[in-house]
Amino acid sequence: MYASFFTTRLVALAAIASVVSGQGLPAGCDRNATVQSGDTCDAISAMYNVSTYQLATVNSGIIDPDCDNLFIGEVLCLGISGQDCDVTYVMQTGDTCQSVANAADIPISTLLANNPNVNTNCTNAYAGEVLCTASQIYVNTTQSG
Ligand SMILES: *[C@@H]1O[C@H](CO)[C@@H](O)[C@H](O)[C@H]1NC(C)=O
Ligand SMILES: *[C@@H]1O[C@H](CO)[C@@H](O)[C@H](O)[C@H]1NC(C)=O
Ligand SMILES: *[C@@H]1O[C@H](CO)[C@@H](O)[C@H](O)[C@H]1NC(C)=O
Ligand SMILES: *[C@@H]1O[C@H](CO)[C@@H](O)[C@H](O)[C@H]1NC(C)=O
Repeated sequence: MYASFFTTRLVALAAIASVVSGQGLPAGCDRNATVQSGDTCDAISAMYNVSTYQLATVNSGIIDPDCDNLFIGEVLCLGISGQDCDVTYVMQTGDTCQSVANAADIPISTLLANNPNVNTNCTNAYAGEVLCTASQIYVNTTQSG
């Protein structure tokens, strides 16, 4: 009884330790960041040049959809090798997808392909959201919905 309780505790501690040390990062992770006090997903995205979509997708099942379960010291993967867009732009008030695409000198279709969370008329993009503005298409469309 005592032994199995103790073993369970050890397994739980080992799981936490592996997440904190980053051993739980996905295969092919080529960038990571450690959550600091006060971080939000969009703040991390802006600081490390990773789109809001990419941070959420790479950490699906780890970061919840509202991004309210980050903890200090948590190690997050920022991008998967070969699918890691690090050319980004932080949306400002008044920006439109067209203005962002124009400023980045890319077709709007490329902007939308790399940011599948943004709807086709861009009405759900928001100030502070980080968009991938690369000219290359990184998002694996066979995985996105
Ligand atoms: C996290 O990134 C750092 C470099 O910033 C690297 O030294 C470390 O090995 C990475 N950790 C993992 C688990 O990939
Ligand atoms: C993010 O991108 C900007 C513009 O290219 C660059 O100046 C900055 O060093 C990048 N930051 C990181 C953490 O890669
Ligand atoms: C924007 O597009 C979405 C679907 O992508 C649609 O539901 C919505 O009605 C559109 N809004 C406008 C203002 O066109
Ligand atoms: C895209 O995702 C599919 C399904 O997970 C995978 O089989 C394929 O290798 C991926 N392609 C690239 C270029 O990563």
